[in-house]
Amino acid sequence: MKGTKKSNKNLMKIVSILNGGLFHDGTTMGAELQMTRSAIWKVIKKLQNYGVKVESVKGKGYALPEPLMLLDVQEIEKRITAACKEKVELHLFEAMSSTNDYLKTFKNEKTIKICLTEMQTQGRGRFGRHWHSPFGKNIYLSCHYLFQKDVSELSGLSMVTTLAIVETLKSYGINDHLHVKWPNDIVYAQQKLSGSLIEIQAETHGVSHAVIGIGMNVNMREDEGEISQAWTSMQQILNQYVDRNELVSRLLVNLLSYLQRFNACGFSPFIDEWVKNDCLSDQQIVLHHLNKKIEGKVTGISEQGHLLLQLANGDTGAFSSGDTSMREFP
Ligand code: BTN
Repeated sequence: MKGTKKSNKNLMKIVSILNGGLFHDGTTMGAELQMTRSAIWKVIKKLQNYGVKVESVKGKGYALPEPLMLLDVQEIEKRITAACKEKVELHLFEAMSSTNDYLKTFKNEKTIKICLTEMQTQGRGRFGRHWHSPFGKNIYLSCHYLFQKDVSELSGLSMVTTLAIVETLKSYGINDHLHVKWPNDIVYAQQKLSGSLIEIQAETHGVSHAVIGIGMNVNMREDEGEISQAWTSMQQILNQYVDRNELVSRLLVNLLSYLQRFNACGFSPFIDEWVKNDCLSDQQIVLHHLNKKIEGKVTGISEQGHLLLQLANGDTGAFSSGDTSMREFP
């Protein structure tokens, strides 16, 4: 796949040396890592090309003005192996177009595959929206999962994924002001914190391959531009830098357990949990559905994960897709 860069050990080692915020010169780092000064310089250039701020001062060397802890497959594997019974394959990259697009290149796979990257050049949200994916800041993760289900039974999947993310955020003490918004939004004080993009790959004889993409805003600061909607990050909420290896591990353990339960029992066991976390319950909302704007009051969620809306004429409609927003009053 074009632009795909496997994660590189030398880059990880250099970032780990520079991570304390102090200056380190190229010669000393080279001696420590058995690399030439010019090889060190190339890695520094690469980091700068990825958009990472690296200070470079003649006579002092290089320093990272902001903390940067990179993802580490071994760390993550160690943490999830203890908690997961299933066999999981992890693929980690420095940069790629989109983790969903990468996993979609595998056909008819049976094993659970997880793709993680430090940066996406063409990260996608729902409805073709751009998903801001700067290097080393957030989580961009996709999971390929094989469901023993017909595609028609997968309509609750994005909500189940959303609940697994919420469970993970709650394990960091993020509770108040945290809500889900049908079907895939996770908002904190009405600002977007995380979202998921589900793509069903293929379906034959009652089995379906799905690629479940998750984006979480983790260590992005307020001054990070280019996002059109109101957003926040875990760092802003918790007021501290978040270790993404620990976060990914917790997220994967929750995600795999939620997916397994959904595969076995469908969406109905999750309805109560959804309603408890929902910010739309009993609200007048606008649903953007197939180029139409539909106004109504949210009365619940069906067993299939469809949104139930009481419409202006008193009828109740069940909707399987769309984008929701609180009704704007004049
Ligand atoms: C949304 O809220 O609109 C969904 C955002 C999903 C973003 C994630 S990041 C990892 C995966 N790869 C993508 O290109 N998109 C999803």
